[in-house]
Amino acid sequence: MRRIVIDCDPGIDDALAITLAHGSPELEILGITTVGGNVSLEKTTANALKLREFLGFPEVPVVPGSPGALLRSRVDAADVHGDSGLGDTRLPPATLPPSDGHAVDFIIETLAAHPGEVTLVGIGPLTNVALAVRKEPRVTEWAREFVILGGSYTRGNFTPAAEFNIAADPEAAAIVFTAGWTVTMIGLDVSRSALATGAVVDRMRAMGRLGADLLVPCAEFYGMVTADDGPAVHDVCAIAYLIDPTLIEIQPAVVEVETVGRFTSGMTVVDFDLGDRAPNALVGTSIDVPRFWELTLSAYDQVARQCEGVVALESCQEAVVEGR
Ligand code: BDR
Ligand code: CA
Repeated sequence: MRRIVIDCDPGIDDALAITLAHGSPELEILGITTVGGNVSLEKTTANALKLREFLGFPEVPVVPGSPGALLRSRVDAADVHGDSGLGDTRLPPATLPPSDGHAVDFIIETLAAHPGEVTLVGIGPLTNVALAVRKEPRVTEWAREFVILGGSYTRGNFTPAAEFNIAADPEAAAIVFTAGWTVTMIGLDVSRSALATGAVVDRMRAMGRLGADLLVPCAEFYGMVTADDGPAVHDVCAIAYLIDPTLIEIQPAVVEVETVGRFTSGMTVVDFDLGDRAPNALVGTSIDVPRFWELTLSAYDQVARQCEGVVALESCQEAVVEGR
């Protein structure tokens, strides 16, 4: 069992990633921290809270963090994720509030409480993580592993050179990549192959309320704004890697983040040719797509069953209350 903290900006693919983490017995979610990214911090936090209740893990803390980049104006990806950040999904509003405190302190305290045991996974801009390593540099020693969905050594998606999570806060990413730990970077080079094709969406359609209210609207909304044979479910790849690292090939590299380039700001410059330099990253280079979907869809199946159980229980309780 791997204990994880997910730093995220839900976000359609963040929602699909959180659902995978929740449905996987191999992972225990210790907390979800939010950051402004795909949409505002207010919305990413509201979405994390809705997901937590809809999926049924109300005991897990959701802790809001940084609203925007360290030094730059905030950018977003509402054109891709919709105004709410969760496309056309139909999740009821949350009834429970976020935890008190700040994501940065939650990350520090959680890693400090279990040194060497907790994996930190970043699937949004890296602002919270950068602030955490600046405030408490021992975070880099305490983390069992630090895995991100972000970057690319081929081409970007926010600009031709830069992937969204890095481009949204390049200075934060530069801090994180030079903090002295090894960053496992699953980037677009990998995630662009993980497409929710028609066949995948058909499997989701058969998943009752989970499929109808969350998975299918996510995939369809994301699909409207992306090309190819279905949308790439980027963030899901980082969680899948934690469950089964053999799904993704990784190679050691030296990664630098471009912060000053006029056309290349937010680019991850990846050098696999190490020479005598020590790597600061393990970079994903390919993914076994059939096995990725097998793992992901079977975890979604588990969650779908739990959701149906909750629905059955709720209608049973209503019947009792109404004396039916
Ligand atoms: C990343 O950018 C965001 O829009 C997604 O949620 C994902 O984390 C992909 O480039
Ligand atoms: Ca994300």
